[in-house]
Amino acid sequence: MAIPIYRTAVPFLLVMLISVSCKEHLGSPYVQTLLRIKELLNSPPYLSSWKTGMDFCNSEPTATLTVVCYDKTITQLHIVGDFGAPRFPMNFSIESFVGTLVRLPSLKVLTLVSLGLWGPLPSKFMRLSSLEILNLTSNFFEGQIPPTIASLQHLQTLILDSNNFTGRLPDSLGSLSALAVLNLRNNSLYGSLPHSLGDLEALRVLVLSSNNFSGDVPDLSSLTNLQVLNLENNALGPRFPIVGQKVERIVLRNNRFSFSIPEKVQTYNQLKFFDISLNRFVGPFPVSMFSLPSIAYLNIAENKLTGMLSESLPCNDDLYYVNFTANLLTGKLPRCLLSGSSKRVVLYAENCLATGDENQQPISFCKNEALAVGILPHSNKQKQASKVILALSICGGVTVGVILVSAFYLIVKNFLAKRAAQKSQPRLSEDNASTAYTSKILKDARYITQAMKIGGLGLPSYRTFSLEELEEATNNFHSSTLIGEGSRGQMYRGQLRDGSYVAIRCPKLRRNHTTQHFMPHIEFISKLRHQHLVSALGHCFEYHLDDSSVSRVFLVFAYVQNGTLRSWTSERRRQKLSWAQRIAAATGVAKGIQFLHTGIVPGIFANNIKITDVLLDQNLVAKISGYNLPLLSDNMEKYSLQNFFRGSKELKKARAKHQDKLDIYDFGVILLELITGKPINSRNEEDAVKDEMNASITSDDSSRRSLVDRAVRNTCSGESARTMIGICCRCLLKDPAERPSIEDVVWNLQFAAQVQDASQSSDGSPISPLQSSRMKPIITK
Ligand SMILES: *[C@@H]1O[C@H](CO)[C@@H](O)[C@H](O)[C@H]1NC(C)=O
Ligand SMILES: *[C@@H]1O[C@H](CO)[C@@H](O)[C@H](O)[C@H]1NC(C)=O
Ligand SMILES: *[C@@H]1O[C@H](CO)[C@@H](O)[C@H](O)[C@H]1NC(C)=O
Ligand SMILES: *[C@@H]1O[C@H](CO)[C@@H](O)[C@H](O)[C@H]1NC(C)=O
Ligand SMILES: *[C@@H]1O[C@H](CO)[C@@H](O)[C@H](O)[C@H]1NC(C)=O
Ligand SMILES: *[C@@H]1O[C@H](CO)[C@@H](O)[C@H](O)[C@H]1NC(C)=O
Repeated sequence: MAIPIYRTAVPFLLVMLISVSCKEHLGSPYVQTLLRIKELLNSPPYLSSWKTGMDFCNSEPTATLTVVCYDKTITQLHIVGDFGAPRFPMNFSIESFVGTLVRLPSLKVLTLVSLGLWGPLPSKFMRLSSLEILNLTSNFFEGQIPPTIASLQHLQTLILDSNNFTGRLPDSLGSLSALAVLNLRNNSLYGSLPHSLGDLEALRVLVLSSNNFSGDVPDLSSLTNLQVLNLENNALGPRFPIVGQKVERIVLRNNRFSFSIPEKVQTYNQLKFFDISLNRFVGPFPVSMFSLPSIAYLNIAENKLTGMLSESLPCNDDLYYVNFTANLLTGKLPRCLLSGSSKRVVLYAENCLATGDENQQPISFCKNEALAVGILPHSNKQKQASKVILALSICGGVTVGVILVSAFYLIVKNFLAKRAAQKSQPRLSEDNASTAYTSKILKDARYITQAMKIGGLGLPSYRTFSLEELEEATNNFHSSTLIGEGSRGQMYRGQLRDGSYVAIRCPKLRRNHTTQHFMPHIEFISKLRHQHLVSALGHCFEYHLDDSSVSRVFLVFAYVQNGTLRSWTSERRRQKLSWAQRIAAATGVAKGIQFLHTGIVPGIFANNIKITDVLLDQNLVAKISGYNLPLLSDNMEKYSLQNFFRGSKELKKARAKHQDKLDIYDFGVILLELITGKPINSRNEEDAVKDEMNASITSDDSSRRSLVDRAVRNTCSGESARTMIGICCRCLLKDPAERPSIEDVVWNLQFAAQVQDASQSSDGSPISPLQSSRMKPIITK
């Protein structure tokens, strides 16, 4: 038996304190940099908490001010000033400000919003080459967006909304291969859009609204992940933009589009929001748009669209806003628009509809107007001359004058010439809008969630504990405090002097080692701090007297007291979680897994997480316990210090071998239980429920609902049930490669929460584009 010699181990502890506690004060250069930034911003009130000697890394993050550190460097800086902050006075120098900022070269996320910064973006700025998210909304930056911005190769999100940037968009933007979000709303940019935009294959969100862009939108059909296209308030046109099949939101409002709506829009099965109002679109309005499977908002007001509506047209139940005011539509209003939800807004004045009310034009008005504009769209759309002739003859009954014919001839000729000029443009392929499993689609798209980065909130800093402290907390490791024992060691529950409870793990050590041997592991464990993990608070070593080798290691974790997730969903012991709480718990678990995979290097995979390993705290926040602790794994070499530098390669390798997908499967099993409320203890039970779920995906709402736990069945929204069941089934796919990535899982869950939330508050307001890109994955139907 080893004899504790902790009293003589002070030198060791000191060494450890210095080398281990990662969350201690940053080296002073960073402190000086931050204080200098404060000074350059004229010490504004929102930075009053920044003081000399302050521990920036452990400061409480707020909505307006956050500093996040990782491994002794600053990786995130968020400063949000007062809304509508005025421009800094003339003595402000953006050069010195940025010159100071680049002394934080590890910055990955930078938010400088409403600070009054002005001047051109200095080229020095590009030294922040680790940047992944940049948000400079609401400042007074001016001049061109520098072409050198392309050197920020890791950039995933670029938001320069509401500044005074001017000039053309640099062509080099197209080489930002990781870019997923590009928001340049409300600047003074002009000119045609560079063709290289079509190379941004990772792009999900493109917002260029409220600028002065002109000309045709480049071909965006290879942006297969594009979900949001917002070009509102520009001078773009005349052709309708070509976008990929996954688009959810198209906003072309108030531009100069004047050709017809391509037939392809009828295959956009994920399109929810369509606003092409205030343009000069001509030609037939594709009435099947009313019944697109996802459509909820349809605004084609103030164009010159023609077509005959009929009472029997079908429309999607989710459609809550339809505006086709001031077009050239004839026929009768579809009955389905008028029945259904009373909240639905349907606006249709100034057409030639047979409604009987006076705000409609006579039919002849629409016929004449249509004739004036009605030929061009066909020339644009049709590939064969025969169809053009057909279109002409459809205008029947009216003699098409010689002038019209020759004008038409000129237009067609012009069009063909233009077309020849752009011969190298790829043709859009009319792939059928298959909404089969979308795991592949989302697999490659990445997004760093803020939550993941601001992971370890609200925990005390990691520290070393003394053995006396732990003995006191556990009453000398009294058997009554033992809460678990297994082949890997014991676990005790203790109460510290400050009253807080901790769980103390005492892993079995196979051999004696020196403290040096354990250092990398301890350093690694000290980083395992996340809102959704049962996090490490510290450790303690006990030594052998004779050779000072380590005889025991104690790892101290937060104690989570509110029971396992199972006890809240599938056991009768207590009140059950509501549907929304279940989604929140699942999201927590997914985020915890995401952190284990990507939030630390090397990532921790194959954690074999069970629903009984998920604990809930007093606020019902889910926390994963019993994950794969490195100190306990036999494969210790992996955690040697050298390997820390190979983290991202490790992650790639793990992903290539689908190691990450093992946890995805286990997560799917947890979801099964969460959804159905039935404890799943065997493979057979698992398979049976899984089969039912798979069958229900293609089935109707009520049969899906019947799978949901009776206790919450009546409060869950159909859409959120569908999303949860869909993602659950995908997690449980046999082929690991087919299972979704953890990022997809998180998105889907957040979407489920969002639709559930919307259904509870019955608030049908449209979601902002940015949010929608983050929250809304593509849902399998
Ligand atoms: C700039 O001018 C303001 C007053 O207009 C002053 O308070 C501030 O200290 C000056 N800043 C610098 C960096 O000189
Ligand atoms: C950028 O900043 C604005 C203003 O604070 C905020 O609304 C927006 O969510 C931010 N975007 C991101 C991606 O952080
Ligand atoms: C657009 O930017 C200007 C400053 O450039 C700002 O005053 C205005 O509020 C912004 N408008 C919107 C709608 O964001
Ligand atoms: C934007 O820049 C133009 C010159 O490019 C300038 O005339 C205008 O005043 C600026 N607007 C703001 C709000 O700073
Ligand atoms: C937009 O650009 C056009 C030329 O392309 C110009 O005539 C017009 O004045 C510009 N509008 C604004 C608001 O800058
Ligand atoms: C929709 O219709 C209403 C009522 O006719 C009209 O006032 C409004 O401007 C229209 N909306 C748009 C976006 O054009």
